[in-house]
Formats: sequence, C-alpha cells, structure tokens
Amino acid sequence: MQPQIYKTLFFFILTLIIIGCDNEHSSITTQYEPVLFAEHIAPIIRKNCSKCHHEEGGAPFNLYDYEQVSSKGKLIQYVTENRIMPPWPADPNYSHFANETYLTETEINLIARWVIDGCKPGDTANLIPYLKPSQKNLGLISKVIKIPKPFEIKGDNQDRFYVVKFPIELGADTFLKAVEFVPHQKKLVHHMNAHLINYATDAKTSLHQGNYYIRQDQSESIRIHNDLNLANDDGTYPIMTPSVCNYLPGSQFSFYPNGIGGYKIHKKAALYLNDIHFGPSAKDELDSSYFRLYFDTKAPTRPVSEFQLGTLGISPVVPELSIPPNTIKTFTINFTVPLDISVVSIVPHMHLIGKRYLAYAIKPSGDTIRLIHIPNWDFRWQYFYMPKKMLPIPRGSTIYVEGVFDNTSNNPNNPFSPPRNISEKNGSMKTTDEMFQLILSYLPYQKGDEEIGLEE
Ligand code: HEC
Repeated sequence: MQPQIYKTLFFFILTLIIIGCDNEHSSITTQYEPVLFAEHIAPIIRKNCSKCHHEEGGAPFNLYDYEQVSSKGKLIQYVTENRIMPPWPADPNYSHFANETYLTETEINLIARWVIDGCKPGDTANLIPYLKPSQKNLGLISKVIKIPKPFEIKGDNQDRFYVVKFPIELGADTFLKAVEFVPHQKKLVHHMNAHLINYATDAKTSLHQGNYYIRQDQSESIRIHNDLNLANDDGTYPIMTPSVCNYLPGSQFSFYPNGIGGYKIHKKAALYLNDIHFGPSAKDELDSSYFRLYFDTKAPTRPVSEFQLGTLGISPVVPELSIPPNTIKTFTINFTVPLDISVVSIVPHMHLIGKRYLAYAIKPSGDTIRLIHIPNWDFRWQYFYMPKKMLPIPRGSTIYVEGVFDNTSNNPNNPFSPPRNISEKNGSMKTTDEMFQLILSYLPYQKGDEEIGLEE
C-alpha cells in the first residue's frame, strides 16, 4: 500500500539524516547577517513544527530545542523547501485558519540559510523553554486516564480496529473543557473517536467489569457492549455524549475560548471508543495510548453542536458514493442551514482515493462564504480546521461540498491493483472503503460572534 515514491523519498531522506548539519563544511558564507537558531529559527519551528513534534504529539521525534533541530538540519531544509513539512493540505489562497501551519518563502529561505551557514545556535541560553499543551498554564486542572492493559498489535501486517472503554472515576460531578488524546505508537495509531458515557448516581457499581477492549470484527454492537460491560447494573443504558475527542492523522490538540464548548461529566463515567484504528505492523507491538482530561469549574455557557453531512450524516452524498474502477468521479453534498450559526471548526473527510475537496456556502443574498479548498487531498493529513474568527453562516444558506475521487491506477494511493469498485459500504470505516463527509461544529449565532478570535 506504501507507494513507491515514498520509498524513494525515504532513502533520499535517510541519506540526509546521516549527513545532518555539517559544521565543518560551512564554507559557504553569505554577506548577510548570520542566521541564528535562538533569534530567527526557533520562533518559526515552534510555531509551525513543535505542535506535532513534541513528546505527546503525533510526530515521531521532537523539534523545539537547538540540538533536536540542528541534528536534522539538512533534512529540515529539504522537507521545508519541498513543502513536505509542515503538512498543510488546505489552499492558503482560498481561506485561512487559526491553526494554519504554512511557511512563507522568506521563512523557508531563512531555514536554508541557517543550515548552509552551519546551524549557528545564537543565544540559546536565553531561549524560553518550549511548553507542550499539557504544560501550558491553561488555568485548568487535568487528569490522565489510562487502561491497565496495553493494546496488542500483532506483527501480521493487518489493520486492527478496537472498541474500548476507559473508565473514569472522579470525586464529584464536574465539567469537562476538553479531552486530549496522547498517541503512543505514533506510526501505528491511525484514527480514534471517543464518546463520553455518564453514569447516573448509583447506576453502576463497578466500571472495571468486562473487558477494557475487544477487537471490532463484524460482531454485533450488542455483543460488544456486553463484552465491555457498558450497561447500568439494571441492564439499561447510560447517557452518551458523542465525539468528545477525535484523532486523525496529523490532528493537533486545541481548545475553544472561555465558556465555549465543554460537557458535564459525572463522578462515574467512561470514554467509549467505538473505533480506534491501528495500521498494519510487521512486528508485534504494544500500545499504551492514553487520554488527558481538562476540567472546568463552570458549565459551558455556549455548548458546541455539530452538523455531520455526507456519509452517515444528515444529508446524502449525490450520487450514491460508489466509484467504479478506472474512473475519476465527482460527488456533491448539499445542505440548507436551518438556523443562524457561527462555525468554529470545519472537518473535511475522505479516504485513500480522495483527490480534491471543496466546500463553501451561498447565502440567501447570493454571496459566497468560502469554507475550504484542498487541491491535493492527502489521506495522511486530516485536520480540524478552525477559522481565525468565528464564522457566521445565516439561516437559509446552502452549503455545497464537492469531492473528486480518482479510482484509476494512476492514483498512487489506490489501495487496489488493478482498481476495484470502491464504495461507502454502509459507512464502513475501513480505509480501503471510501467516505465523503463535512463535519461543521457550530454555536447558534450571537451578535458579535464574528469578532471572537479562535487563535491561541
Ligand atoms: C501536523 C503535524 C506536523 C507538523 C505541523 C509538522 N510535522 Fe514533521 N512530521 C509529522 C509526522 C507525523 C511525521 C512522520 C512521517 C510521516 O508520517 O510522514 C513527520 C516527519 C517529519 C520529518 C521526517 C521526514 C521523513 O520522511 O523522514 C521531518 C524532517 C519533519 N517532519 C520536519 C518538520 C518540520 C521542519 C516542520 C515544521 C516546519 C514539521 N515537520 C511540521 C508531523 C508534523
């Protein structure tokens, strides 16, 4: 499934890793001011790279201090000049986002000059320490939630899907501001979808009966729920809040501003993962991915809601999502917004043979509101795109989504050779089936929302 081009790239990059940053060959001097790590490079790296390249992020090594960055100098020059890193599939000429990571030509050139000049450190002694999200003073108390048994990933080159429960026991009912997923086997954890189960007082004696996780084969959901022992003691089901945390390739942890978003959480609760997907591995591995909960003392004043459009959503894909072999086919989703909303995040979703993605809204006045354009869909990088400011869409506007899928053998990401028919198969989340979705998180519009920034 790994396209040949990545293999070639891999070996090229491997040579670059071995070369690193070569101080002895810094014979190319420039007439410019010297470029220094602490003064010039650290701010660029920390803004655009460190949010994934830190211990608890999705990237396999850290990039925020001098040693980490200079030891990979040549490789960093290569991946930035070729716009491989930072991965930012959205078209910056179409719309901008709060969590945008996109290097300007000037920044790319500065990194190159720094490397060519021999990766000079500058005043690193006075560089402020890098803080990962869990170390930032978010003014919130946090708690780590783990399960006692690691996930077993057999070295059989098979995809694995698990259904999981993470029991949560707290001193009292309170409020949850956000949930952070901390991946462990970063190259294997693929996607994850967590829901919050709240047990009523005295409804459940023990959260630890039953399995913590089971393999999600084709078994019925009833059996899964029994195996995990999710029901109340009397056999009825507890209340579930959907999608309190999602993780997709490349996703980064982020918060909404004060008062916006959040959930009530009971003293006895659980995170229920209907689907955590581990990619194929050639050797046996254990994975101890976990969650960090961030609590709030107050109830959210403005809870966030969601429109899920397309596959499994409230408005269908037209025509039905099925792509015959050897064709390139376009599909659409239309949806009329039933109330005045302020959008806080935009999540486009397709699988491997997605090629292009475009979403916009047309207001009743006829004006267009640009949402997102992804000219070269890349399954490996899927984000929750947050507009720079809350984005109002008036009631009666129509949202249009257009997705192009390439099921030819010219598509290096085609999982099948020769190509086969690929469809959405009742929302099967298998990567080799397709999906076409737009998920919009929103609040009912309030006057002044367009002024509320979503940047950190
Ligand atoms: C959205 C998360 C994210 C951001 C932001 C990001 N990276 Fe990465 N990076 C990754 C992941 C994940 C990998 C692992 C390889 C892969 O999956 O392609 C990676 C791999 C790399 C590699 C190794 C490439 C290879 O194929 O061996 C380098 C070098 C790198 N990143 C540098 C950077 C630099 C420099 C920046 C900022 C200018 C940056 N990254 C920003 C997630 C990110």
